[in-house]
Amino acid sequence: MTKNIDWGNLSFVYQPTDYRVTAKWQDGEWSELELTTDPQVHISECAGVLQYAQTVFEGLKAYRTEDGKVVTFRPDLNAKRLVDSAKRLAIPVVPEEMFMKALDMLVKANEEWVPPYGSGASLYVRPFIYGSGPIIGVAPSPEYEFRMMCMPVGPYFKEGVKPIVIKVSDFDRAAPHGTGNIKAGLNYAMSLYAGELAHEEGFAENMYLDAGSRTYVEETGGANFIFITKDGKVVTPKSKSDSILPSVTRRSLMIVAKDILGMETEQREVPFSEVPEFTECGLCGTAAVISPVGKIYDHGKEIAFPSGMEEMGPTIKKLYDTLTGIQMGTVPAPEGWIHEIK
Ligand code: PLP
Ligand code: COI
Repeated sequence: MTKNIDWGNLSFVYQPTDYRVTAKWQDGEWSELELTTDPQVHISECAGVLQYAQTVFEGLKAYRTEDGKVVTFRPDLNAKRLVDSAKRLAIPVVPEEMFMKALDMLVKANEEWVPPYGSGASLYVRPFIYGSGPIIGVAPSPEYEFRMMCMPVGPYFKEGVKPIVIKVSDFDRAAPHGTGNIKAGLNYAMSLYAGELAHEEGFAENMYLDAGSRTYVEETGGANFIFITKDGKVVTPKSKSDSILPSVTRRSLMIVAKDILGMETEQREVPFSEVPEFTECGLCGTAAVISPVGKIYDHGKEIAFPSGMEEMGPTIKKLYDTLTGIQMGTVPAPEGWIHEIK
């Protein structure tokens, strides 16, 4: 049974589903995981998350396969990244086993919200941990809540799989050796003003360059870059200063490109001056999947990729079809990539 929803017309918006999973950290330990129907949280007015933005999160998706199974894609990598994020913000870690148990409980309880195979929609899962206890001096919160919620979503960009136009931002997303390599809420708060400016000017997203020298490509507010060279190599930027989020999608695509499609891959520093030489460009992430980029504006100058504004370029299309095929169970997955919810 699935809910009666117009699955094909969903966009990326919050919608409360029936259940979410919670656990509380008090006196040095996590409570048992519980399912709750209450979408509200009740915390101190002086909570660490409210005063000092002490919160980290993850994002992954559950899919329904052609044979009716419900699966998630490499959730162990999300669990590990949440541990890294939590440590960096002095938040107690949620162990990987606890994360996996919460994921199974959550998706199973909300199974009717997992979109049907072929609908183009998926169930977006949002795990997060935040400082819930009162703190006024700058210090870690004395109490925390771990929560995992989910919602059915469609494409992240209104353009869907059509190419988008982005601009080079005048603002920075993350400081060199700051928090860019983890999923901290504060990174996204930092990007909101720049994101709104970009939207007002008609751009779908910002391209951020390295904050230290504004010379090298880093990423966007919510996705990593991949580029295709004239001779068909897949290139993804490596950060000079450890400020790019290690995207699960990007790491997977690099493996798909090399091991399944037999392409050459490179993760290296990408000077912005090299971008006009690439033939295709895409943004990759859980929410974005792979969104093709048709044009990049840089202060009055335009970089237009030969793949154009009508459809995905051929190489990115191949990567997209293989990745989504693995996620939906129509292409064999590398060992350990698919976690079935039973
Ligand atoms: N970069 C940023 C800043 C993100 O927020 C995300 C989304 O999670 C990504 C990249 C893509 O990461 P992933 O593929 O793990 O979703
Ligand atoms: C994701 O892709 O899961 C993210 O967290 C990106 C966010 C901008 C929605």
